[in-house]
Amino acid sequence: MAERIRIAVFASGFGSNLQALIDFNKKDDMGGDIVLVFSNKSNAHALGRARKNNIKAVFLDPGKFNTRDDYDSEIFKLLKSERIGLIVLAGYMYLLTPFLAGKFQGRILNIHPALLPSFKGTHGIQEAFDHGVKITGVTVHFVDEKLDHGPIVAQEAINISQDHSVQELEEEIHKIEHRIYPMAVKYFCNGELLIKGRKVFIKSKLDRGQI
Ligand code: GRF
Repeated sequence: MAERIRIAVFASGFGSNLQALIDFNKKDDMGGDIVLVFSNKSNAHALGRARKNNIKAVFLDPGKFNTRDDYDSEIFKLLKSERIGLIVLAGYMYLLTPFLAGKFQGRILNIHPALLPSFKGTHGIQEAFDHGVKITGVTVHFVDEKLDHGPIVAQEAINISQDHSVQELEEEIHKIEHRIYPMAVKYFCNGELLIKGRKVFIKSKLDRGQI
């Protein structure tokens, strides 16, 4: 039997996506275990969620490191000692250095609250709303060294109606996130994701000879 993937979730804030992953794994096995929650913020609610669920919670203060490379090197040591096979970014508000992104190439997932490549960055929901787009959504993607850029694993769209408030939109987007992120992680842990250039294929859904 293949070894179960040891997962580290990186989160800077509330951690509702972390919670969705924890809850999913309790009732429908993802094929991996969340063994570490890491944060760059001492007061991240996500750290408390981890502790409540007996998951190791680690905060490293970026202010104590001279450079971003030093910071990410320390994180890398931690990940190595925990034998991490997958990093799941869930509201981690810090761009990974090329060093760390490179070390875990093809083994880092992120979720973004807009349809990439539109509305990258921290305010994807608000910016899509303000721009007046009629459709926005959620993207799960692999992470490379560029912001919200790597190959796309899954997307789900949502229509923005005339009477949507931005708060309503946000709630609906989070609901989608909490549903599709655990599924994407499950695909990864079960060895189902195949990256070919910018494209990600789900192996069991491929017709033979398709790629
Ligand atoms: C989510 O909207 C996610 O798409 C974005 O950051 C937010 C994190 O929310 N990357 P939470 O901390 O998981 O509640």
